[in-house]
Amino acid sequence: MYLSKDEEAILEGSRGEAAAIAMKLLVTIGDIFDAQRLIPVTSAQVSGISYKTIGDEGLEFIEEFARKGAAVNVHTTINPAGMDMENWREMRVPEDFAQKQERIVSALQKMGAKPTCTCTPYLLPERPKFGDHLAWAESSAVMYVNSIIGARTNREGGPAALASAVIGKTPLYGYHLEENRTPTIGIHVKSNLENELDFSLLGYYIGKNFPDKIPLIELEKSNLNEVNLKALGAGMATSGIQGLYHIKDVTPECKQRVFDVCERIIVERSNLSDVKESLSEQCSPEFICIGCPHCSIDEMEYISNIAVKGRFKKRVIIYTSRHVWSIAKKRGYLDRIINAGGRVVRDTCMVVSPIEKVGIGEVVTNSTKAAYYLSALSRVKTVLKSLGEALEYARNGN
Ligand code: F3S
Repeated sequence: MYLSKDEEAILEGSRGEAAAIAMKLLVTIGDIFDAQRLIPVTSAQVSGISYKTIGDEGLEFIEEFARKGAAVNVHTTINPAGMDMENWREMRVPEDFAQKQERIVSALQKMGAKPTCTCTPYLLPERPKFGDHLAWAESSAVMYVNSIIGARTNREGGPAALASAVIGKTPLYGYHLEENRTPTIGIHVKSNLENELDFSLLGYYIGKNFPDKIPLIELEKSNLNEVNLKALGAGMATSGIQGLYHIKDVTPECKQRVFDVCERIIVERSNLSDVKESLSEQCSPEFICIGCPHCSIDEMEYISNIAVKGRFKKRVIIYTSRHVWSIAKKRGYLDRIINAGGRVVRDTCMVVSPIEKVGIGEVVTNSTKAAYYLSALSRVKTVLKSLGEALEYARNGN
C-alpha cells in the first residue's frame, strides 16, 4: 500500500509509539486487502468495550495502548460497556467486574474517545452524512450507516477501528469503493412486514442464507421507519458477514443509481416464521429485554405510552444510550416507564452485560440478534415477540 511521507514517518515513530503501532496495523490490513492507499475518515466507532466480552487480555491491551500515548484524531465513539456506568450497583453487577469495566472506559476516554457507550451512534447529533468515509466496528451500526445513510465503512474489528481513530485514516478497500457497493442478489419479499420483529427476522434470514451477498430488497406493503430499518440491519449482521443492503426506491444509493441483479429469490412469511421458531424456546420468561440495538427516542415514546396503561406484571428492562436516556428523561418517558415498574438501563445491553450472573435465565425479546447471542454467549433461553406483543405479555403476565 502506498504511504505518503507523513504516513511513512508515523510508521517510523514520528508521532510516538502508539501511533506507530496503529499505523502498522492499518498497513497490514491494507496490504491484505490490496488497498492502494489510506483515506481520511470523519469518525471512528470502537467495539469490544465490555469486560464480559474482552476479559483481562482486552483490558490490558487498551490500558497499554493508552499508556503508550494513544490519542484519537477524529470523532470517536464507543460501543456499549458491560454495565450502566452510573447505576451498576442497581444492576447487581459484581464489584470486580465493575472496577475492570471502569478501567476500560477510562483508558478509552484518556485517548479522547467519547464515552457514548452505544451501538446506535447514528442516532447521536454527530450523525454521518451521505458519502462520508468512516471506520466503524459495530456490525449493526455499519449496516445502518452504509445502507440507510449512504456513508462508507467496512465492518472493522475493534482494534482496527481504534487504529483508524488514532491515525484518522483507513485503508481504501471494500465498501469504501463504489464498485463494491453494487447489489449481488435480489430479494423479493412477498409478505407484509408489519413491525420491527418482522424486519429483524427478514434480516436474519437473508444473512443466514446469503451471508456474503449485498441484497437488493424489494418490499411489497411494509412499514418502513427508522426503528424497523435498524432491526433489519442488526438481524442481517448477526447471521451474515455483509455490511450493506439496498431497498428498492428507498435507500439513498437506489435513488441515485439503477441497480440490476442476475440472481433473484422470493421470501415468504413461512421463511420468517421458520427463523422465529429456530430462535425461540419453550419457556415462560419473567424478564422482557428490549433495546437491541439500543432503543431510539421513538421506541422510548412508544413504550412509555403503553406503560401509562397500567403496571407491568413482568420485569421489563429497556436498554438505550445515555443520549436517548437523557432526552427520554426530559420528555417524561422515563418516569412513565419506571412508574409502571419497568427499568431503563444506559450504556449496556442484555448481551454484553453479565445478565446470566444475576439470575436471568429466560427472556422475551424482539430482536433476533439478542436472541441469538443470549443463547450462544450466555445460555439464556429466549422467546421472540414483537415490541407490542412483548409489552402486552408484560402487562397481562402471560
Ligand atoms: Fe447493541 Fe448489544 Fe444488540 S451492542 S446491537 S444491543 S447485542
